[in-house]
Amino acid sequence: VTSVAAELTAYLAETRAEIDEVLDRLLPPADAPPARLHQAMRHSVFAGGKRLRPILCLAAAETLGGPREAVREPAAGLEMIHTYSLVHDDLPALDDDRLRRGQPTCHVVFGEATAILAGDALLTHGLTVLGTRPAGDAWASARGRAFEAVAVAIGTGGMIGGQVEDLEAENSHASEEQVARIHENKTGRLIRASLAVGAHLSRADAATLARLDEYGRAIGLAFQIKDDLLDVEGSAAELGKSSGKDAASGKATFPAVWGVDRSRAILRDTLAQAIEAARGLPHGGGRLPELARFVGERSR
Ligand code: IPE
Ligand code: IPE
Ligand code: MG
Ligand code: MG
Ligand code: MG
Repeated sequence: VTSVAAELTAYLAETRAEIDEVLDRLLPPADAPPARLHQAMRHSVFAGGKRLRPILCLAAAETLGGPREAVREPAAGLEMIHTYSLVHDDLPALDDDRLRRGQPTCHVVFGEATAILAGDALLTHGLTVLGTRPAGDAWASARGRAFEAVAVAIGTGGMIGGQVEDLEAENSHASEEQVARIHENKTGRLIRASLAVGAHLSRADAATLARLDEYGRAIGLAFQIKDDLLDVEGSAAELGKSSGKDAASGKATFPAVWGVDRSRAILRDTLAQAIEAARGLPHGGGRLPELARFVGERSR
């Protein structure tokens, strides 16, 4: 068990380094004008982050036999979009957080106006990467499908819709259905789309896409249930972001609606569904089953 865990830890670290190299290459240099904005973008991207969305994208492609060189850059685009969502999520008008990835949040360091624009720029840049990479006409249709999957996932019927409902549900006695919907939208949809990007760029057929999407739906929901549990159980030092804040803000979370023990049980069941779906993919899902276990066991 220990060697399996060590092996996964090494894989995660290697893939993270690979993604970070691509991010550094694709993001505008810190000294290029508007330099302060580029510094703000880089501050949030390189503060440290698990890079889970690009890792899932690459792992899906690995499982389905997609060429890694083609997937790396779009995977980095996903991380830019995810980082935009964090920069805006932390703004005073939203969750009002001062710590993220172990660093002061973008607006604390650069001011609110720059943080808003840095978020806008990370979103735009991420979409530009997804719309243009991998380059060349041979990729046009797969690239178009990958782009569409992401664009739809982060819109008002997905991530933004979930963020809106998350804010509206504060202090409101959310129902079980509502908290599941919020989580699937605000967090689950981008995770699902990350897997879809890997699959489209591997030219997966419809049945494989559907199976992978089942995995994605489950791991996306599980990821946010675990995030809620970590907010209850973790410390800011471990998490690199505030803890105990969801209850203080009256957020609609799994622990608030179901209690901690029941939330843990739902997390276990949801991850079991993810693992079962992954096992039906080629090569038993490759890394995907162990990545599901990682989501449940992570401590940050
Ligand atoms: C945090 O995401 C925000 C959620 C969607 C729950 P991560 O836990 O993936 O944050 P980083 O990227 O590792 O910082
Ligand atoms: C964030 O959910 C979801 C998005 C950023 C889209 P949370 O508000 O729970 O994330 P943390 O806990 O601040 O990372
Ligand atoms: Mg939030
Ligand atoms: Mg938040
Ligand atoms: Mg949270």
